[in-house]
Amino acid sequence: MLEINPKILNITPYQPGRPIEEVKRQLRLKEVIKLASNENPLGPSPKAVKAIKGALGKINRYPEGGCFYLRQALSKKLKVGADNLIFGNGSDEIIDIIIKTFCQEDEEILTSEVSFLEYKIIAQQNGRLVRTVPLKDFKYDLSALRKNIGPKTRVIFIANPNNPTGSYVHKKEVEDFLLSLPDNILVVFDEAYFEFVDQKDFPNVLKYIEKGKNVMILRTFSKIYGLAGLRIGYGIAKKEFIQYLERCRQPFNVNLLAQEAAQAALSDADFVKKSKKIATEGKKYLYQSLKELGIEYIPSATNFILLNLRQDGLEVFKKLLRHGVIIRDMYQYGLKDFIRVTVGTKQENTRFVEVLKEIW
Ligand SMILES: Cc1ncc(COP(=O)(O)O)c(C=O)c1O
Repeated sequence: MLEINPKILNITPYQPGRPIEEVKRQLRLKEVIKLASNENPLGPSPKAVKAIKGALGKINRYPEGGCFYLRQALSKKLKVGADNLIFGNGSDEIIDIIIKTFCQEDEEILTSEVSFLEYKIIAQQNGRLVRTVPLKDFKYDLSALRKNIGPKTRVIFIANPNNPTGSYVHKKEVEDFLLSLPDNILVVFDEAYFEFVDQKDFPNVLKYIEKGKNVMILRTFSKIYGLAGLRIGYGIAKKEFIQYLERCRQPFNVNLLAQEAAQAALSDADFVKKSKKIATEGKKYLYQSLKELGIEYIPSATNFILLNLRQDGLEVFKKLLRHGVIIRDMYQYGLKDFIRVTVGTKQENTRFVEVLKEIW
């Protein structure tokens, strides 16, 4: 009999947000809005779309394996060396590469409960051990992470800001945490929502990379740049780490259209500004509306908000869905009374609030 690797049997596969077209078809709805996956509601950057159209005639060729031109552009923008960067098929893929590179089979990754699920899933897929510590006041608890470092811990993943809470750990906490760490641990700050953050006390992790610390940053083109469907993200680390990580990267992992689009999106400052404005204004409107409805929420540094309904979130999810509003229930994260809503366009936010009022 064909044997299944027993290490994968405990994995709960990642459940993505429901697709708009499928919900329309199933529920026979004309209008459906999706506020479920923290995507950019404005669509992709127009410059990126133009770049993709221009590149279509080149897709008979393999992509540039090392993302040469994008690497140059990003290195200039971030003021880091071109050899401090690694690109992936979404930052998801870089999580996989990190685990393969720095963590052996009987070793462990450490992260928080109620955080981005892929850290755990990818570690399990690779047969690595996973340990999590609880959040404190809906935030990563860095001192609990520190206390839970064991002899097998190799990589610590910190989503900052965190998904699904939208909270963040600040400069001083990070400073103290990094100072307290043994030198056989890599800390990965996953900054997928970095471009939405306004808070002055948000840590500048690049500074620690420049100092040669065992830290890494992950960022993505899926959120503010509006390219989730193309799958492209990147990692920043010291050159030595990048060289090791490159050994675990597939040669053509980032497709040609994604590279062209990312480079164009990077230069589209207007689009990024507009996207951030929409998120900031939308959050303000949603906070106000939630207050009026008496619904608690966790203040967010990102483009999504976690709502504490104090009643079954799955039921509310289903009711919203029947009205053509897709959000996320939080069962997979163990928060049964919560939902997470992505900040949409003005019209989408208004629609969400209208329906929420109706069913509340
Ligand atoms: C915290 C966090 N990290 C990483 C990702 C994945 O990003 P990508 O689309 O680049 O794989 C997400 C996506 O939702 C996220 O929330």
